[in-house]
Amino acid sequence: MTKREFAKQDIQPTSFSFSGDNELEAQKIISQYPNGKEASALLPLLDLAQRQHGGWLSQVAIRYVASFLDVPEIRALEVASFYTMFNLSPRGKFLIQFCRTTPCWLRGGDDVSTACSKYLGIGVGETTPDGLFTLMEVECLGACVNAPVIQINDDYYEDLDSKNVVHLLDSLRTGVAVKVGTQNPNRGFSEPEAGLTTLNEI
Ligand code: FES
Repeated sequence: MTKREFAKQDIQPTSFSFSGDNELEAQKIISQYPNGKEASALLPLLDLAQRQHGGWLSQVAIRYVASFLDVPEIRALEVASFYTMFNLSPRGKFLIQFCRTTPCWLRGGDDVSTACSKYLGIGVGETTPDGLFTLMEVECLGACVNAPVIQINDDYYEDLDSKNVVHLLDSLRTGVAVKVGTQNPNRGFSEPEAGLTTLNEI
């Protein structure tokens, strides 16, 4: 598992508050919860703060969200430091999350991660010097049927191998549009690789 640490103090900002639009969005999110259960909006509000702050949560942003929801600061810190969807330090423009759990591993996940590291010249937990890519390992991404899988920012890329993953990264680097989801041209979504075997007639 990638080591999770707060960014060093010299790059921690000294203040954070939601932008006008995000404050409205935060109020909208909170209103979806029953009275007295507003604290349950902690995850979506931390996510909102992270998106506003370039993809990572500073300590002051976590404190701000805790105070916004009137929950103890330690609760917000626990949640932010537990879930890998929250980044505690700056990340590259493209955050690549490798699934390292058994189904992906059995289907060649190690080859995919090795090819990425080799192509980018960085190891897990590191960011390329141009600030474009960060590599991270996570547990099951919940798309095992199309293993091996990686998540890049909000999208999943599936049915990867050491060749198509490098093509994918190369396209991202050069700004070429990439196809989200399965990279197997013969597979539709998560249908069987060899085509439908049942319920194949209307
Ligand atoms: S094991 Fe990789 S997505 Fe589930």
